[in-house]
Amino acid sequence: MKLAILGSGSGSNFQAIADAISSKQLDAEITGVFSDVPDAFILERARRLGIYAEYLGDCIFKTRTDKNMEQLLIARLHELEADYLVLAGFMRMIKAELISTFSNAIINIHPSLLPAFPGLAAWKQALDYGVKITGCTVHYVDSGMDMGKIILQRSVPVLPDDTPETLHARIQEQEHIAYPEALRMLSRMG
Ligand code: GRF
Repeated sequence: MKLAILGSGSGSNFQAIADAISSKQLDAEITGVFSDVPDAFILERARRLGIYAEYLGDCIFKTRTDKNMEQLLIARLHELEADYLVLAGFMRMIKAELISTFSNAIINIHPSLLPAFPGLAAWKQALDYGVKITGCTVHYVDSGMDMGKIILQRSVPVLPDDTPETLHARIQEQEHIAYPEALRMLSRMG
């Protein structure tokens, strides 16, 4: 199973997937890591591991991908023969062309138990709402915001003295287990 990874930030989920592969808990190969942010740490992490890493260039939109970004990505996914495009902290909405080209092959992780709290800072939304349990969700990407069929979820308790930071950190610990586990499920499905 060949994976291309797309992220905008620190890349801790990418790291967890790479670690699961190197410790033989996941039978997969990461063939490329891409980012819409030139100095994103996810690119640096990839380079340190000797994995192909590329900045996707400027984009005319702030919160979604544009045609150039999508076309470059589609070309690279074909060149790298990626089976799945794995979104790991990618902060833009993906447009229809990429989704239809790779239908059922784009997956994402979101820091809440979807369909609760889609969108930004889901851990803060959970805290503000006052839920006692939240978590993370690995799901297929469709044209909706944090929608698409759910592959796997892990729950996390919200504690009385939580701050947005402590809750986010507890959710991320579970994300780092959930993403490799979800990919393992997909690789078994063949
Ligand atoms: C994660 O919390 C993920 O749920 C969200 O963005 C964050 C990415 O973190 N979509 P990282 O870059 O993998 O460290």
